[in-house]
Amino acid sequence: MELTHRPRRLRQDRIRELVSETTLEATDFIAPVFVDATTDERIAIESMPGHERVPLAEAVSRVEEVLETGVEAVMLFGIPTEKDPQGSRAWADDGVVQEATRQVVSETDAYVITDVCLCEYTDHGHCGTLEAGLREGECAHATETVDNDATLASLERIAVSHAEAGADMVAPSGMIDGMVGAIRGALDREGHEDVPVMSYAAKYESAFYGPFRDAADGAPSFGDRRHYQMDPANAREALREVRLDADEGADVLMVKPALPYLDIVSELRREFDHPIAAYNVSGEYAMLHAAAEKGWLDLEEVALESLLSIKRAGADLILTYFAEDVARRL
Ligand code: PBG
Repeated sequence: MELTHRPRRLRQDRIRELVSETTLEATDFIAPVFVDATTDERIAIESMPGHERVPLAEAVSRVEEVLETGVEAVMLFGIPTEKDPQGSRAWADDGVVQEATRQVVSETDAYVITDVCLCEYTDHGHCGTLEAGLREGECAHATETVDNDATLASLERIAVSHAEAGADMVAPSGMIDGMVGAIRGALDREGHEDVPVMSYAAKYESAFYGPFRDAADGAPSFGDRRHYQMDPANAREALREVRLDADEGADVLMVKPALPYLDIVSELRREFDHPIAAYNVSGEYAMLHAAAEKGWLDLEEVALESLLSIKRAGADLILTYFAEDVARRL
């Protein structure tokens, strides 16, 4: 048989590595860490096997566990002692993320990124201050839930309080219009010009966040987030969203979730020169675990393949609950 082209020649064991186009490294990953100010003990997160909410006193040891695997960056999420309509514990100097950040920064070499959002801190669970007059149950047909511009001032305070506590990078995740510009301005005014902003630039209104909302106790008590997070149907809109964040000074551009939105990741890779991050979210983690528990999938293999596909699509950094497991294996 005369066949000129035989791609199989390059799939032999001794050459596979040489022609491999994509590699994963532990330093590509950011590990999410949940610090819970309401507990003295570690609490397992049922829908995210292997993950826990840790008390403040164990924030440092939790981060040390991450560092031991070779992963160098963490994303801190906080569960506060109290919630109120404004989410005021989110910018408190003695707030859970502020305290955890101070400890982790002074006692470890971890690169500390903080999530800048209000949903874990507001009693209604939305990512900002509600529109005046809006009450529980009233919003089914409301055109808005969160008061965009009133929320910007809160986000500025949160970001500055995180930077003041020593955060290396802040990551606004609320999909509030103008959030990147507002935060950049506030950080600069307060002397934190060197703290980069990683924007959750294209964050979709996704059903894959379910387990996280249990973990961080951040589910909205009424309504949903479709008036601020993006419609899963839209791809061109993502480009517009992301371009705005880039113009407002975002240093890193994130797509979230990752696997159902790899088209967006690769589109951003082509369109922008910024580092692109992808958030392999809680539901993406939970579903692989659930299938593996049933014996239907090999967890290690599907985790690795998932992260590889995210990197291949064009992500430089990957936020993932698999960070430690996969890094250990690499
Ligand atoms: C909002 C925030 C969310 C996640 C990260 N930051 C939840 C949401 O928008 O409901 C989800 C992460 C995940 O599912 O892993 N502060």
